[in-house]
Amino acid sequence: MRALLISLSESRWLRHLAERSSLGQRVSSRFVAGTKPADVLSVARNLNSAGLGVSIDNLGENVTTPEAARQSAALYHELLSEISARQLSANISVKLTHMGLDVDPLLAQDNVSTLVARAAAMRPPNFVRVDMEGGAYTQRTVDLVCQLHKPEQNRGSIGAVIQSYLHRSEKDVERLLAEGVRIRLCKGAYKEPAEIAYQSKSDVDSNYLRLMQTLLKSGIYHGLATHDENIIRAAKAFATREKIARDAFEFQMLYGIRRDLQQSLVREGWRMRVYVPFGTEWYPYLMRRLAERPANLYFVAKNLFRS
Ligand code: FDA
Repeated sequence: MRALLISLSESRWLRHLAERSSLGQRVSSRFVAGTKPADVLSVARNLNSAGLGVSIDNLGENVTTPEAARQSAALYHELLSEISARQLSANISVKLTHMGLDVDPLLAQDNVSTLVARAAAMRPPNFVRVDMEGGAYTQRTVDLVCQLHKPEQNRGSIGAVIQSYLHRSEKDVERLLAEGVRIRLCKGAYKEPAEIAYQSKSDVDSNYLRLMQTLLKSGIYHGLATHDENIIRAAKAFATREKIARDAFEFQMLYGIRRDLQQSLVREGWRMRVYVPFGTEWYPYLMRRLAERPANLYFVAKNLFRS
């Protein structure tokens, strides 16, 4: 089933068909907050009311023209303005290939740099998280985040993502911490070869636990992105044992996944941020979530038959 879902996720015609049909939009609604900024802003308001922070992701990656990259950046500027006007507890998550990295690295740098400058100038200052993509982009992503974090006025307004499946992650964490950069720690969502990535769940999880401890002890505000109850339990125990305050870091989960666990962490007094994707290009994102856990097909089917 997983292999089938991964191959379907790469099907261009199915993607074309699904993204353009109202039926497709209905089935994706459990995991994707609609197609328009107004949709995601309203979801963010509801999540805030339930005590959850938000990071908004405008779905899309690997754009092939400068115009598409500029359009994506413009939409994020609009989101930052709306977040501020509506006083939402929300920041933004961007992908460098959505900002034009494959077209022209300087264009991507310029697009992210103006977003970070805007976020930093807001009152209160907002924050731009640069998502981590496949292994071909890791070095450039870490380099760019470090570079944009350097100017005094940007400090704390841009953050990185580290994937515990990569062998290199411990070194990247050391570098980012030395620069004072906020990190989101996740396991990693791409298919990477054994030369650069751990292949077994137990190795990926062990590395996650090691890096989690390093992050929590660093004194910098980080995000632990996972739905893995064993890891969450270990993080809570470690924070309690080391007397790390509950507001000194946050847990992060994806929209629509383990909503029960999201709520129970908030009830216990931990910080929780939900990554909320929206946009017309939802098909690859949804298929990645289904491949991670084919049982999610149940929720998709439920939306299909909802009257
Ligand atoms: P794992 O996959 O081991 O799952 C542990 C348990 O969580 C499962 O047994 C199940 O109960 C639950 N679960 C996991 N996935 C589920 C799903 N789809 N549906 C329902 N239940 C599920 N990756 C990346 O490469 N770059 C990035 O920038 C990001 N950003 C990011 C932000 C946030 C907020 C999150 C939560 C995740 C990411 N990821 C990511 C994705 C991440 O790398 C990873 O693929 C998923 O989070 C799944 O891994 P888990 O840590 O949940 O563990």
